[in-house]
Amino acid sequence: MAKRIQFNRHGGPEVLEYGDYQPAAPGPHEVRVQNKAIGLNFIDTYFRSGLYTPPALPSSLGTEGAGVVEAVGSAVEGFAVGDRVAYATGPLGAYSELHVLPADKLVHLPQTISFEQAAAVMLKGLTVQYLLRQTYEIKGGETILFHAAAGGVGSFACQWAKALGVKLIGTVSSAEKAARAMAQGAWATIDYSHENVAQRVLELTDGAKCPVVYDGVGKDTWETSLDCVAPRGLLVSFGNASGAVSGVNLGILAQKGSLYVTRPTLAGYANTSTRLQAMADELFGMIASGALQVEISNRYALQDAAAAQIALSARQTTGSTILLP
Ligand SMILES: NC(=O)c1ccc[n+]([C@@H]2O[C@H](COP(=O)([O-])OP(=O)(O)OC[C@H]3O[C@@H](n4cnc5c(N)ncnc54)[C@H](OP(=O)(O)O)[C@@H]3O)[C@@H](O)[C@H]2O)c1
Repeated sequence: MAKRIQFNRHGGPEVLEYGDYQPAAPGPHEVRVQNKAIGLNFIDTYFRSGLYTPPALPSSLGTEGAGVVEAVGSAVEGFAVGDRVAYATGPLGAYSELHVLPADKLVHLPQTISFEQAAAVMLKGLTVQYLLRQTYEIKGGETILFHAAAGGVGSFACQWAKALGVKLIGTVSSAEKAARAMAQGAWATIDYSHENVAQRVLELTDGAKCPVVYDGVGKDTWETSLDCVAPRGLLVSFGNASGAVSGVNLGILAQKGSLYVTRPTLAGYANTSTRLQAMADELFGMIASGALQVEISNRYALQDAAAAQIALSARQTTGSTILLP
């Protein structure tokens, strides 16, 4: 038996239960990982609330973790018992002591990166890799807008943008978060709790607006984001922290300047082991060079996952939060 977080019905953090379960034996192409640290991500709250649908109820939760391979399936190649590994996609169940997942969702973890750092950076860092380097290949000198710049994904985006010579304008909801985003490498911040974002973007870009806007906030910022994209530019809508964007009339893209919009996912970009490894190699390279610092802002015991989710949803966290089994 092992311990995990599970839920029997959708709802608020109170539906999360910490209890015993019987971990499965790995199938032929699967690996069982003994988690040493687990990443907390906004997507976990979507599966809990029912915005996203888990395969079945009761369900386990979480897609990001780091640990040691504890058992391997008969057909697995490239991973052996005792290997240090990390993962950011795959089946739900990272909020656990032991997690079974397909071997092609794993990457080997360099000795220089601790389990805690890996759990803090895998999902968020790989997301920033594809957002800044694949969805739109940013060039140095460009000015971009990135919402929730002091958050988990946002903190890594600030650092990566700076390393690329990109001027990142970050939105934040407080002076403390503005200071954090600037310390992480943002070029400017806008406090969207009281400033007019579109107006400030016009001022900061001398009227040009941004070739690309990254929006993980969703419902509350959708229209403002469109107003910040330069003609024929791209809006990357990659999350729903304030609720999902729905009921979009495509004509709005014409009205706002012949814009493009995409709704990408990490799973869609890291959809083969080759692609996942290449993205992880670049991420680990950024960490090794010192361009990306992996700080853990908040730590919770796994059994306190509900409290961690309350803090994340209440906008009380900055940077990365991890859970410790
Ligand atoms: N598509 C993908 O591949 C992918 C991958 C990873 C993450 N994401 C998305 O990226 C976003 C950030 O994820 P994260 O895990 O790093 O979270 P996070 O940024 O640490 O937390 C979310 C932040 O969103 C801001 N926010 C604005 N309105 C909010 C509201 N009504 N409720 C709660 N927060 C609100 C808050 O920052 P302020 O207080 O400064 O506003 C909050 O701190 C999420 O939408 C997530 O789903 C998408």
